[in-house]
Amino acid sequence: MPSLFDPIQFGNFSLQNRVVMAPLTRNRAGPGRTPTPLMATYYAQRSSAGLIVSEASQISAEGQGYLDTPGIYSSEQVLGWRKTTNAVHAAGGKIVIQLWHVGRISHVSLQPGGQPPVSSTSRKAVANTFTVNGFEPVSAPRALRTDEMPRLVDDYRKAARNALDAGFDGVEVHCANGYLLEQFLRDSINDRTDAYGGSLENRTRLPLQVLKAIADEIGPGRTGIRMSPVTPVNDAGQDSDALGLFNYFVERLAAMNLSFVHVIEGATGGSRLDVPFDFAELRDRFLSGSKSGAWIVNNGYDRAMAMEAIASDSADLVAFGRAFISNPDLVSRLRQNLPLAPLDASTLYGGGAAGYTDYPMFEMVPEVG
Ligand SMILES: Cc1cc2nc3c(=O)[nH]c(=O)nc-3n(C[C@H](O)[C@H](O)[C@H](O)COP(=O)(O)O)c2cc1C
Repeated sequence: MPSLFDPIQFGNFSLQNRVVMAPLTRNRAGPGRTPTPLMATYYAQRSSAGLIVSEASQISAEGQGYLDTPGIYSSEQVLGWRKTTNAVHAAGGKIVIQLWHVGRISHVSLQPGGQPPVSSTSRKAVANTFTVNGFEPVSAPRALRTDEMPRLVDDYRKAARNALDAGFDGVEVHCANGYLLEQFLRDSINDRTDAYGGSLENRTRLPLQVLKAIADEIGPGRTGIRMSPVTPVNDAGQDSDALGLFNYFVERLAAMNLSFVHVIEGATGGSRLDVPFDFAELRDRFLSGSKSGAWIVNNGYDRAMAMEAIASDSADLVAFGRAFISNPDLVSRLRQNLPLAPLDASTLYGGGAAGYTDYPMFEMVPEVG
């Protein structure tokens, strides 16, 4: 029976264990949305994870939706990220970058030329973003024209190429949490009447074109995807047939031989059970169609749940988000069943080293007497 702490191989990846650091936006990029040396320190501290998925990183200036998130579209950003990938590799870890386009979850103050953000729809989300003024409501979007789709696909392709130039081991395409690609998938958001709206084939068209372009560019074995079939975050209303949509989608991803699917079970960071959904069926469809793909699960896992998921073969890897923020040595704590440190919510977004690189490794308290 495999354990959470056993090595694993899939796609182009060969990992030291099955604990994944989930992507975590921390809003600490420097001028030009460039990754900083402090970010390299933060990721290197967490490099005992089998795989790190970086914080979401915009593929273009238009893809940004929050203050000070890093990009992967300029040469300065590629150089900045190289410090992180070098530091993680020197410490024996593996890291992929999460490729992000927020779509309508943005604000004009963060968009090039103060333009409206773009989406599958012109309907505004009921959601907040984080700007120079703190949290504020997102702006009304502009619906993308059909003739803009090739440009978008190309932005993703270039970002994936940049990721390899920056030394990443691969990419995870962010197709979750109500951002651009999910704005195309769900019929609760996508109200288009062109070839990118309506039928399952049409709503999955842009995400599949993006995945195909990236897989052609860097290889399917280095390409993974994150999805959140029933999350309500960022005003992502439920699809009228979520299981039908995502079953259709993963079958096509499996046929491309993508290296992994990383699934958020339930409401991101919240209830795992609000909306019934057959995640096991989704996993079976992906794994039965894929040559060497892996299934990563996330959302509210603790040690016992993670160990059980691996032992019962319901997942190949388990991703931890919040626990990795305050426990840089999470793998060792899980292995030895040591207590986990709580996180400080006031230092999550923005700022410097405090609440970022200053969480200590576990220290045994010597017994007195
Ligand atoms: C501070 C913070 C930032 C996050 N940033 C991202 C992100 O950039 N991309 C993403 O897909 N999910 C993001 N998430 C969601 C987490 O990856 C994860 O799905 C969620 O925290 C549930 O996992 P957990 O219960 O192990 O924390 C973020 C969550 C938190 C708390």
